Amino acid sequence: MTQQERSILEELAAAARSLFARGYSFGTAGNISARLGQRVFISPTNSSFARLAADALAEVDLEGQAAGPLTPSKEVHFHLAVYRARPQAGAVVHLHSTHATALACLRDLNLDDALPVLTPYYAMRLPCLPVAPYHPPGDPLLAPEVAARAVLSPALLLRHHGLIACGPTVAEAAALAEEIEEQARLFFLLGERAQPLTAGQVAALRAKFK
Ligand code: 13P
Repeated sequence: MTQQERSILEELAAAARSLFARGYSFGTAGNISARLGQRVFISPTNSSFARLAADALAEVDLEGQAAGPLTPSKEVHFHLAVYRARPQAGAVVHLHSTHATALACLRDLNLDDALPVLTPYYAMRLPCLPVAPYHPPGDPLLAPEVAARAVLSPALLLRHHGLIACGPTVAEAAALAEEIEEQARLFFLLGERAQPLTAGQVAALRAKFK
């Protein structure tokens, strides 16, 4: 492994610990991965973001074959689905953060785009927030559902479960996950008082900050 690859895994583990420290992850919820060429390094199943270490990640190839001693997250299938759907993705973050998960449990959710655009940064970072239908955690059926939505957007919700965000780098994937959690928090804070940006304002932001 090159020094540069090693530092990406250090960044991955540090991002997980930071997400935990700031309340975006809790217990053993969530999983995080980085792609290094033909290899994917992912948090081991039942591990906590609180103590994730770069030298204690599970390794798989792009078909999901384990390449090391540690058992990968049970969600490795949908991480791989994101990498296949978005060739430019270098990292994937999955969280059960409270507000995004609450959103994913709402009755009458817009499954094509779950959140109104309330602030510019949210609009600038993603085109829509599609929702994959419910399957139990670890179910391989999640993978095609995630792939179908990952081609539309770098982030999506899993119905009754949580969020997935990806990016070219670990920092960008984590920042997008945080942006979605905070936008969901604003949505619930504002409730009926929310005034979303207009379609014209959103289009102008997306054109300018593509
Ligand atoms: P793992 O511990 O297998 O990563 O599962 C945690 C989780 O968040 C399931 O969605």
